[in-house]
Amino acid sequence: MLCLKSETNPAWVEVAVKNMEAIMIDHAHCERKAASNGISMILRYPEKAELVKAMIDLVDEEMEHFRFVFDELQSRGITMTRDKGDIYAQKLSENIRKQEPQKLLDLLLVDALIEARSCERFLLLSKSPMISDELKEFYHRLFASEAGHYRTFTDIARLYFPADTVKSRLEELAIIEAEIVKNLSNLPSIHG
Ligand SMILES: [Fe+2]
Ligand SMILES: [Fe+2]
Repeated sequence: MLCLKSETNPAWVEVAVKNMEAIMIDHAHCERKAASNGISMILRYPEKAELVKAMIDLVDEEMEHFRFVFDELQSRGITMTRDKGDIYAQKLSENIRKQEPQKLLDLLLVDALIEARSCERFLLLSKSPMISDELKEFYHRLFASEAGHYRTFTDIARLYFPADTVKSRLEELAIIEAEIVKNLSNLPSIHG
């Protein structure tokens, strides 16, 4: 799907649908972190107007997603607990180069890959016969929106870097991402 080089292990879906409370809490944190990440991109690159404009829209949408998930938690009487962290995102971020302009390219493409993987997993959840129709609809809406974010990050990358450079670095990072995903332990979290 999108630029991904591997598919999620079906064992993850089995674990996820049996632990929807943990999945929904982790998901709320993912949306909150996606919004925070958009703000940190604005902090890092305030002179890049197109990037700033795209991040303003993205932050709005991610906070809207956070609100959806938070409301779902509230309506189910689930209390949000502290973030347990995201090993997948940490490992992928270790591949961001330190020097500019490569750093900007890698930040954008790592974000694109995280959006793509989230998108793949929301689609898997939306197809599971084990969850309610209401939740299926909810995940399907998020699938479409996160696919749009994948495009936002890759479009911005192509605005500031030559298309060939973007393509080849995305290819390299997607291979690394697939390797990280292969070694995940199928835990009840969005990127587990
Ligand atoms: Fe989101
Ligand atoms: Fe997103």
